Amino acid sequence: MNNTILVTGGAGFIGANFVLDWLAAGLGRVVNLDKLTYAGNLQNLQDVAQHPDHVFVHGDIGDRALVAKLLAEHKPRAILNFAAESHVDRSIHGPEDFIQTNVVGTFHLLEEARHYWSSLDTSEQGAFRFLHVSTDEVYGTLAAHDPAFTETKPYAPNSPYSASKAASDHLVRAYQHTYGLPTLTTNCSNNYGPYHFPEKLIPLCLLNALAGKPLPIYGDGQQIRDWLYVKDHCSAIRRVLEAGRVGETYNVGGWNEKANLDVVQLLCDILDSLQPRKDGQSYREQITFVKDRPGHDRRYAIDASKLYSELGWKPQESFETGIRKTVAWYLEHQDWVENVNSGEYRRWLDQHYAESAA
Ligand code: NAD
Ligand code: DAU
Repeated sequence: MNNTILVTGGAGFIGANFVLDWLAAGLGRVVNLDKLTYAGNLQNLQDVAQHPDHVFVHGDIGDRALVAKLLAEHKPRAILNFAAESHVDRSIHGPEDFIQTNVVGTFHLLEEARHYWSSLDTSEQGAFRFLHVSTDEVYGTLAAHDPAFTETKPYAPNSPYSASKAASDHLVRAYQHTYGLPTLTTNCSNNYGPYHFPEKLIPLCLLNALAGKPLPIYGDGQQIRDWLYVKDHCSAIRRVLEAGRVGETYNVGGWNEKANLDVVQLLCDILDSLQPRKDGQSYREQITFVKDRPGHDRRYAIDASKLYSELGWKPQESFETGIRKTVAWYLEHQDWVENVNSGEYRRWLDQHYAESAA
């Protein structure tokens, strides 16, 4: 075993930010296993394409032979499982992929992790970690005055996505309890920041605003999400990996509850100042109320006290600073935006990984 980690889903939004930050900090080698679904974008990893400590592997976490081969070859000291189908709306329209990757895929990954871990010597076994990246959505929804989710809140997932993540969390827990695999689980609130795929609220509204399209607000727009800048999520994961207690779960959040409509209005105001509309109107004019998401959770809020007090982690960004950085990033990365909007990022993928092109 050495200073290598195996990251899954490292071409997606959070995984790519994690890999970029990890390599920038010189924390060791990364083997990055990603299936490159529609949400995986190798352009996210362009800056580390030639990095000597980055090995990209195109493949599925459910491919046991491949995972076994990677573990035997690279002997990682940890596996960090970011890979997932992550979009709630897609899970409503087609849950199958969510079950396959989030549940069955995680199960296969755990099985191979268990076999690999069993083959290590005692000191290596003690040092090994399987860190599972999960979501606050497993806890279900909160009423307006309910306390924020703590780690002891019973699971009550409401969408196929959150149910699939809850199932994966339970498998991870069971592998620690039954087999002694040294696992850690993090449950984080809504992320935002660079490389966020524009099917999620913040990047979708940003890009639609600039393209002169409607900004779709589901229902009354008063649903509350608890926002965390993606780099803060990544620092929390590094901290849990380094010092988290085996078998524990850690909630990750920055106490930034906001109603969706307020988030989108703030985005419009920032754009009004940074890149005003040519007709002098506010981007708020483009806000459009649309049909609500079925089973839409009303409120999420994370109580991250355990992570704060036990591991001394705290976020660097407030929502106000993080959202300004995010808007600036999208304005400065029009090439990324154009490649995603046009589908060019998939064409690049088709040329290099033809067998996976969907
Ligand atoms: P994403 O959809 O942007 O990226 C997912 C990545 O996983 C993609 O690169 C995709 O190609 C890859 N992938 C999908 N299926 C795979 C498979 N079978 N094998 C290998 N790779 C596969 O997702 P994200 O927003 O970066 O989320 C990453 C993780 O964090 C997920 O587990 C998600 O549940 C969790 N999470 C996300 C948020 C959020 O706000 N985005 C918040 C809390 C937790
Ligand atoms: O809470 C963590 C979760 O946050 C993660 O586990 C998920 O992977 C991630 O996708 C995110 O889920 P949400 O459903 O909260 O994110 P999304 O950006 O899809 O939606 C945020 C809120 O905005 C939600 O209340 C639905 C609403 N919304 C979303 C879209 C895409 C709209 O009003 N209009 C939209 O067009």
